[in-house]
Amino acid sequence: MVAPRISRRGLLAGGAATAVGALAGGVPSEQASGGAATLTPLIEPFDGLHQAGIATTPQTHAVFVGFDLLETTRKEAIVRLLRLLTDDARRLTQGRPALADTEPELALTPARLTVTFGFGPGLFRAAGLDSPVKALPAFTTDRLQKRWSGGDLLVQICADDNLTVSHALRMIVKDARSFTRVRWTQRGFRQSSGTVNRNLMGQVDGTVNPADLDRAVWISDGPLRGGTTLVLRRIRMELETWDAADRVAREFTIGRRLADGAPLTGRAERDEPDFEKVNALGFPVISEYAHIRRAHVSDPGMRILRRPYNYDDGLAPDGRSDSGLLFASYQADIDHQFVPVQRNLAEADLLNEWITPIGSAVFAIPPGCSPSGWIGDSLLS
Ligand code: HEM
Repeated sequence: MVAPRISRRGLLAGGAATAVGALAGGVPSEQASGGAATLTPLIEPFDGLHQAGIATTPQTHAVFVGFDLLETTRKEAIVRLLRLLTDDARRLTQGRPALADTEPELALTPARLTVTFGFGPGLFRAAGLDSPVKALPAFTTDRLQKRWSGGDLLVQICADDNLTVSHALRMIVKDARSFTRVRWTQRGFRQSSGTVNRNLMGQVDGTVNPADLDRAVWISDGPLRGGTTLVLRRIRMELETWDAADRVAREFTIGRRLADGAPLTGRAERDEPDFEKVNALGFPVISEYAHIRRAHVSDPGMRILRRPYNYDDGLAPDGRSDSGLLFASYQADIDHQFVPVQRNLAEADLLNEWITPIGSAVFAIPPGCSPSGWIGDSLLS
């Protein structure tokens, strides 16, 4: 994307709010010189065919909130709730305070804020509709905990500034309070510097993703046209035992090198892995049980879109870390895209030694809406 150039003096003289409005959202980068600053856009569009927060270049911070609807929240109340939350999201993402915003100043730095909504099976049930999504089948490696699983309504909030995330979360939760109760909150983060994204195991994460989202991610017909589905898995990492594995074992486990994320058969991150290649002893260079072989899907149109965040919830009294991945996977069809990959991994993936799925939730992600619409209007009105 080509960033517009404006004078730093002009930006600062106008004050942040004016600058945000006048410049479609930009902040001067630190590399500015000679009185001119390069702008990094900080407003993501809200209205459109698709909801933002999926194809959006991942922001640094995220919170996923799962709500349960109160017994009394039926179709008419769900519509009221969604109109309210859509209004909050539309304002906040565009750098404007929510209605009755108690901290309006915090809305002025949207930092690429996106607010994405998802509907769980319980929301469809409460609205008297058939659900297009259902809980996943059980996998042998699952150790799911109720406190990280399920949910009727998902709100995914992402931004490059954690204060922005917290403010948006607070406004959304306030407005949802009389219709819902919070089931879980999961906070995550990504690397904010560096040219690649690494996870807490030190691996370059996010190399292979579908290029054609119209085939792999967006649903092409029916009431969810323009929408997608989300599988959110909370996956604990056993970092203490991972620490004990040497570099060769770690690279063998994934099938890629730690230094640059290149496949063990290639030289650069983007090189195609050669799954046929064998070593001098006749063994495959990328193991039969390596994560990237088990997870690989050859048809790019059937791949899942991974947009994971790390989580790190601090230390237990014995110093062990409570951390892992909030594995967010978007795909047009859960049964034909996510499930077969997860099944392959559960069956035999070397990485299973160090990872444990402890939470799981599925949501239909409705399409985006028009400037006068609300999220879910094509399904519920
Ligand atoms: C904590 C858990 C996990 C970790 C640390 C992890 C890590 C990685 C890493 C380092 C790569 C290679 C770089 C890349 O393409 O991004 C990768 C690839 C991949 N992972 Fe995972 N992963 C985890 C869980 C999962 C799960 C649960 C799934 C799906 C059910 C999955 C699906 C994939 C896919 C589809 C690829 C690309 C494979 C290809 O090369 O075609 N991963 N993962």
